[in-house]
Amino acid sequence: MNRRELLFSTGVAFGMSGLGAITGAAISASARQPQQTLLTIQSAEFKLRNAVTSGLVSLSPNAPPPVVFSQQHEPVVFDVENTTQDSTAMHWHGIRLENSMDGVPYLTQMPIGEGQTFRYRFTPPDAGTYWYHPHCMTMKQMAHGLTGVLVVKEPSDPGFDVDQVINLRDFRLDNNDRLLPPYSIKKAARGGTLGNVMTANWQSNPVYEHPAGGLVRLRVVNTDTTRIYRLALEGARNKIVAWDGHPVVTALPSPTLKQPLILGPGQRADIAVLMPPHEGVTVKLLALKGSDNVEMTTLKAVGADLKRNFAQLKPLAQNPVSIPDLAAAETHEFVFGWSPSGNAPNDGFCGSLGKTFWSINRIPWPGDAAKSKGPLASLEMRKSYIFRFRNESPNLHPIHLHGLTFMPLRSNKRKIAQNWTDTALLLKGEIMEVALVADNLGDWAFHCHVIEHQKTGLSGVIRVG
Ligand code: C2O
Ligand code: CU
Ligand code: CU
Repeated sequence: MNRRELLFSTGVAFGMSGLGAITGAAISASARQPQQTLLTIQSAEFKLRNAVTSGLVSLSPNAPPPVVFSQQHEPVVFDVENTTQDSTAMHWHGIRLENSMDGVPYLTQMPIGEGQTFRYRFTPPDAGTYWYHPHCMTMKQMAHGLTGVLVVKEPSDPGFDVDQVINLRDFRLDNNDRLLPPYSIKKAARGGTLGNVMTANWQSNPVYEHPAGGLVRLRVVNTDTTRIYRLALEGARNKIVAWDGHPVVTALPSPTLKQPLILGPGQRADIAVLMPPHEGVTVKLLALKGSDNVEMTTLKAVGADLKRNFAQLKPLAQNPVSIPDLAAAETHEFVFGWSPSGNAPNDGFCGSLGKTFWSINRIPWPGDAAKSKGPLASLEMRKSYIFRFRNESPNLHPIHLHGLTFMPLRSNKRKIAQNWTDTALLLKGEIMEVALVADNLGDWAFHCHVIEHQKTGLSGVIRVG
């Protein structure tokens, strides 16, 4: 055993961990594990606050959805079994996979009914931090817990001592810790409905012990249906090494109270954290909420000082994303705004809020409905495009595109860091241009990741053919 294996061999035993922590030794164990995983969607209960909350949805009866580990360029098989009465479909957010494996009901597959299993197989082309969630009955399944982290490991280890996944999300509970309705129609027409219990890995401020002076890869994922997190990391030197799965191209500032990291629903940041050298000293991940700071997670230094430094980390290799040819790129504009509010009856098995309030290019389409409105744009395979995103509303929208990775170029509101992404957060009135190469065939979902917006019209399809 090498030094790291020796230090952490008493940690988590296997490749999946509900707590989100995995040790150096467990990572090598997961590589030997057969890459076929059964994920059983089921109802669950868990102590999120003071009492046990039932009516949650997870992949085990009494724990959060596990962190699932896979390897770049190595095939995975996920058998998704549905034991609930509602239909479902599983989506692998940010993974550039084959269209038929994308998990979007009616668009790429039929919903998975009660008692049915769907086999997803794909080979992740990109390393990094991704996540999984259903794309059907989302206001029930996602809102009630079913959002998990999918880590794709690099073929060669960059040199962290520990991986620590932080899955940030809210729940809406009453005073007796029972689930409240996850949305209100009034809020769906505005910013969306926020939860009232903010959690990390389904816990309030969990404390994770990590080696003093060691290097932690903190994978922070916002899987909430609504909340835009404003984060600060206090108590340790740190550096953002990857953004939305991909190694950073343009440096991002370390998140502080003065200059928080803004992470919209669906977005991820991998932060290299150098643990304090002295045992017992803590590092805090804080969420700014109005004038309050909410402690989301604590990292506590334990053991003798490992005396690591950032220079010992191998730079992450860029993922094989095609570079757009800006000179040849054709521009498509997408306007995100309101629509005259209308009724949207449920025309399938994936749930409806019954209304439309939002639109893309004036077309309201409640995502995951059976009858598509057809593609908003048809792109030619392997050509470069610029998408101009225009937010006509006063609300913020994390705009997500399936199957493709894009690069933000510029904005009318701010200087934006150019980093590969699948989810761009549009500010109030913002116009942002992004570039991409249409190099993945199929009909790709394109929507706001505030799920109430997606379900009430802010959704569409981009065709690559
Ligand atoms: Cu993370 Cu269409 O979703
Ligand atoms: Cu997605
Ligand atoms: Cu939105």
